[in-house]
Amino acid sequence: MELEKLQKKMKSKLTKIRYQHTLGVMYTAAALAMRHNADIQDAMLAGLLHDCAKCYSDEKKDKMCQKNHIILTAAEHRNPSLIHAKLGAYLAEHKYEVTKANILDAISFHTTGRPDMTLLEKIIYIADFIEPNRINFPGLDIIRRVSFEDIDYAVYLTVQSTLDYLRSLHVSIDSGTEQTYLYYKQLLDSKKGEADRIEDVRDIKKPIGHKVMKRSVKKWNKQKKWQK
Ligand SMILES: [Fe+2]
Ligand SMILES: [Fe+2]
Repeated sequence: MELEKLQKKMKSKLTKIRYQHTLGVMYTAAALAMRHNADIQDAMLAGLLHDCAKCYSDEKKDKMCQKNHIILTAAEHRNPSLIHAKLGAYLAEHKYEVTKANILDAISFHTTGRPDMTLLEKIIYIADFIEPNRINFPGLDIIRRVSFEDIDYAVYLTVQSTLDYLRSLHVSIDSGTEQTYLYYKQLLDSKKGEADRIEDVRDIKKPIGHKVMKRSVKKWNKQKKWQK
């Protein structure tokens, strides 16, 4: 199905706020795809459909999963808001005629992430978190910037922020989210410059003027001088 046609479908299915968020994810995914050399059309399609199952009630989602033999994890049973990712991938394939496995996987893992994500999975996971309509919270500006500089670091910061948020709510945490966190922590630990990164992460909760901000401003000033 064409992107334009799907866009109209999503507009009619989703609430106004959800549709605005969807467009935000779609265009942010396109920008990240441009920056990281991913397929822009795939990124837009995955972004457009990532929340396509979000419009159904928990009861309806549960019924749809049963009917279509979609197996849910214990965490998904405890926290039905997670179900829309897996169900969304199913609908993308069977209702919206998406055939590419990479797009379906990006939809499927956009909520929890997973270890060793593909580039498209990382793009959708991050785009969902940083799109322009997201209400600002401490550290979001940093994650937005890092997303265009070091995508694995951005995944790490995103999953860490998500875990902090979920723990503050005392809700059930999917093991996939925890596995994603551990994988990207280990990956960053194994990369050169790990000590700096970890310090940056600690500093992220500090107000403007912390190390990351200082470093980025310094970098930008240097670039500006060069451009002049
Ligand atoms: Fe979602
Ligand atoms: Fe979303």
